Amino acid sequence: MSATTKTAARKALPAELGTVPAHVAIIMDGNGRWAASRGLPRIAGHRAGAMAVRRTIEAALHHGVAWLTLYAFSSENWRRPAGEVNDLTTLLRHYVKSEIAELAAHGVRLRVIGEAARFPDDIQASLGAAERATRANARLNLTIALSYGGRAEIVAAARRAAAAIAAGEIDPAALDEAAFGRLLFTDGMPDPDLIIRTSGEQRLSNFLLWQAAYAELVFLNVLWPDFGAVQFAEALADYASRERRFGARPG
Ligand code: IPE
Ligand code: IPE
Ligand code: MG
Repeated sequence: MSATTKTAARKALPAELGTVPAHVAIIMDGNGRWAASRGLPRIAGHRAGAMAVRRTIEAALHHGVAWLTLYAFSSENWRRPAGEVNDLTTLLRHYVKSEIAELAAHGVRLRVIGEAARFPDDIQASLGAAERATRANARLNLTIALSYGGRAEIVAAARRAAAAIAAGEIDPAALDEAAFGRLLFTDGMPDPDLIIRTSGEQRLSNFLLWQAAYAELVFLNVLWPDFGAVQFAEALADYASRERRFGARPG
């Protein structure tokens, strides 16, 4: 079977099997390599990556995925050179302003997880306004992870739990997984069913460490700016072929 035929055959699978993941989370990696391979500055890769975000949201809407979470900037990405951080900040500012009306028109609800407070005030204000403006939308829950780190998230939750216990507000015995989960940024969101990472790297890089406990992982050898409908459908087909066990006996 040729690669094209194989892709076409697999593309039809998820809908047929009725196993479309409710929550897809994506580690959007490879913008820098995409740019370097074309002799372009890294920012060109990030700009092309923003176009891939657009295609991905369209694909999620097309497949009826209810939750889409995109890892856009990690807690550790602040370690990059100031010029690149500045370019990414400018791109984010532009993206939020230019895309939000269209997202809202498509029934997308936007949420942000991470330490958005580390970004400039105007970006925080735009993000907050976008979250409020799309609060009533329910077709697609789009979450952008910005200055997000899984370990920092868990430590912050532990600190809140410790403070509540010290204040006598909660009984340590009542702090179970569900109660702890409510202290995370992802309170109210389902855990990801499928985590996709592009660029060929096979690691989580501090993404959704708690929430990924039973996620299916798909690593793709495509750089993020080249990601689109075909790769999204391929990942969904791969997911549909998996047997999820959650520790129980194989069925
Ligand atoms: C992902 O692409 C975007 C961010 C992490 C902000 P990279 O910038 O990590 O691209 P590579 O991994 O260097 O190719
Ligand atoms: C992970 O990619 C973070 C995002 C995609 C936003 P990185 O490029 O920062 O991860 P490492 O450094 O290769 O692990
Ligand atoms: Mg990278």
